[in-house]
Amino acid sequence: MNIYVTRRIPAEGLEMLKQAFGDIEVNPHDRVLTRVELLEAVKGRDGVLSLLTDNMDAEVMDAIGPQCKVISNYAVGYNNIDVEAASDRSIMVTNTPGVLTDATADCAIALLFATARRIAESDAYMRAEKFEGWAPMLLLGKEVTGATLGILGAGRIGENMAKKMASFDMKILYADLYENEMLNEMGAQKVDLETLCRESDYLSIHVNLCDETHHLIGEPELKLMKPTATILNTARGPVIDETALVAHLKENPDFYAGLDVFEDEPTMKPGLKDCHNAVIIPHLGSATIEARTKMSTMAAQNMIDALTNKTPQFLVNKDAFA
Ligand code: DGY
Repeated sequence: MNIYVTRRIPAEGLEMLKQAFGDIEVNPHDRVLTRVELLEAVKGRDGVLSLLTDNMDAEVMDAIGPQCKVISNYAVGYNNIDVEAASDRSIMVTNTPGVLTDATADCAIALLFATARRIAESDAYMRAEKFEGWAPMLLLGKEVTGATLGILGAGRIGENMAKKMASFDMKILYADLYENEMLNEMGAQKVDLETLCRESDYLSIHVNLCDETHHLIGEPELKLMKPTATILNTARGPVIDETALVAHLKENPDFYAGLDVFEDEPTMKPGLKDCHNAVIIPHLGSATIEARTKMSTMAAQNMIDALTNKTPQFLVNKDAFA
């Protein structure tokens, strides 16, 4: 089998692929391939292990060729893959759900506390040697305990964050197309998006990126939020209209944002980096050794299953292979 891995991932997954298929080719550069390099590198492969930074569209699939059986994405999100185009070409698309749930929820929680207690501003203050001693009004933050947490998208990661934050006596609201029985049993309340925006002290985004969720949070939704609220995004950047968010952050100095993802990743919209009230980190939701290692073995297993005539456990386009 002729396999290509678009960027080095933890060794455990690469080892599994080598054991199963002998030599495999991995992008030798530690960077995202350019479009031209990607189109060239994938030619003639039976399977491609891709990253969320690779735009796997119909052109790439045609470049791979009709022998291609699987695109195994090293991510739970697969908005970088044109799944319909893959199904049309009988290419299986797989992802890595579950193993990064704790890591991503923990990252959202880290951003929640970092914004609430102004950790980035405080760190910069210390490094600038501005600290002159304890002061009653220095860098006052917001309480987390007892505040209202709004979860936008109560799937695995949103649910995990809600369960953890309930131990801080937070009131939990969630907005989702579906009821989440586990959250309901915990006493969380399902509300519409408008109520979620109006009532949350901390609103954390956990929806997939698709046409319906693109700019789900824009100027109107931001305006509904409390001027002292915080918005957190560890899902996908384009769920928030980032230009509108920058304007909102500038107009509302007590409104905070904790962002792990950006609309035009890796670029930020103009002005964002100058907002004191934004904590910004470089898409690190799943970036723990444990989660990334499990993602590598899961992506490898998906690839192995697809290329040995088994149905991969985490097949996204099941319908096309029913
Ligand atoms: C995912 O798996 O979709 C995450 O964003 C990776 O960090």
